[in-house]
Amino acid sequence: MDRANLPEDFLFGCATASYQVEGAAFEDGRTRCIWDDFALIPGAIKDSNDGRVAADQYHRYKEDVALMEELGFQSYRFSISWSRVLPNAGSTPNKKGIEYYKNLCNELHAKGMKACATLYHWDLPSELQAIGGWANRETALKFREYSALMFKELDGYVDMWITINEPFCVAWLGYKIGCHAPGHKNLEESLAAVHHINLAHGIAMEEYRKGGYKAPIGITFNPQTPRPATRKEMDKKAALYKRAVDTEVFMGPVFGYGYPEFCTETLGWKFPIEDGDMEIISQPIDFMGINYYNEYPVYYNEKDPELVSTAPHWERTTNIGWPVDEKGLYRQLLWLKDYTRGIPLYITENGSCEDDQLTNDGRVHDRERIVYIDKHLHACADAIKEGVNLKGYFVWSFIDNYEWAEGYTKRFGIVYCDYGTLKRYPKDSAYYLRDVIAGYGDF
Ligand code: FCB
Repeated sequence: MDRANLPEDFLFGCATASYQVEGAAFEDGRTRCIWDDFALIPGAIKDSNDGRVAADQYHRYKEDVALMEELGFQSYRFSISWSRVLPNAGSTPNKKGIEYYKNLCNELHAKGMKACATLYHWDLPSELQAIGGWANRETALKFREYSALMFKELDGYVDMWITINEPFCVAWLGYKIGCHAPGHKNLEESLAAVHHINLAHGIAMEEYRKGGYKAPIGITFNPQTPRPATRKEMDKKAALYKRAVDTEVFMGPVFGYGYPEFCTETLGWKFPIEDGDMEIISQPIDFMGINYYNEYPVYYNEKDPELVSTAPHWERTTNIGWPVDEKGLYRQLLWLKDYTRGIPLYITENGSCEDDQLTNDGRVHDRERIVYIDKHLHACADAIKEGVNLKGYFVWSFIDNYEWAEGYTKRFGIVYCDYGTLKRYPKDSAYYLRDVIAGYGDF
């Protein structure tokens, strides 16, 4: 990828999330979160592992930031662990927890990098799950206190804020499909979770604007924009149905379109909306984050409760079984350009899971990941040429980490983590990205 194809001020970053990399799960006052609990359920996690140690970034952040600098990254996207800064979801801030994030930001700034912080990347304090988690409105109300504290404490430290990471996964995977914490399979609960996660975003926005803070703030979605498997009208509709259920149910309220009619009318879903909620959720944001990994073909299926099924695909699948489809990213960006009315967009996650092998030369030759990233960067450049207001790209992930229900069995890092020694080994893809950022990554 030739950097000249991208705007001069295009931001290159790398991303992680607290539960996936920090470790130090019960140190310095951090209390339990729903992933600590979910990992205890037999069969919930592929290798029955948890995030107790993960990539140990809590202790190794200086080494990691130094490596990011060496690779030329301009920004690091990390997330804050709620139960580290407000133990037991209480009201007494944990100084040591807050210090950790300040130190991390200071370290990034000292190395000339920007700090991009996500407030919620799925590690809900266990005490809030005890009252129903996101199915309970109280959790969204609690988010006010947490977000206000972070804005106040980390003002001047954080350069770019993201309220929530992938509401889709929080509500649908956590409460409808049940493959993520808390592992529930209950439609009614999941509809409440959809509304309350949307509301939590709005509440954080309200606090932020009230405080008059200056750094840009937005939200990260993982928009699902499937393509119809055939030219049949019903399959074309099915692609839109799926987009409504998996994407517009979250993005609609944020961008002021409300909940999609397909959900409220055709499927008859009821969201627990209270007076004023939709105004709170739809306050203007400064940018939107996009996590993009794949695109699927779909067809109309009247037997499915949501009237859509996924069709077989032809693309190479990565080691997690996801098809590689960079054209899907291009298509999605063009759709988002209109849907978001041209606000700045960032790819806040994109990357590939590969069967990485550490070789005798102390390296990982992950050619497939390089090809994956390169194709997606080309898709970004093509979209920008079509007028998409895309401002940057964060690769997922800086380092191999705890891949949720897959445990440590799946590697997404551009840096290899030896989970035995916790030693870091930059993969070929790390050096490929270094060269792209420096302007020499064309191939
Ligand atoms: C995204 C998550 C991220 C990581 C990648 C592979 O959905 O936001 O934490 O698990 O997928």
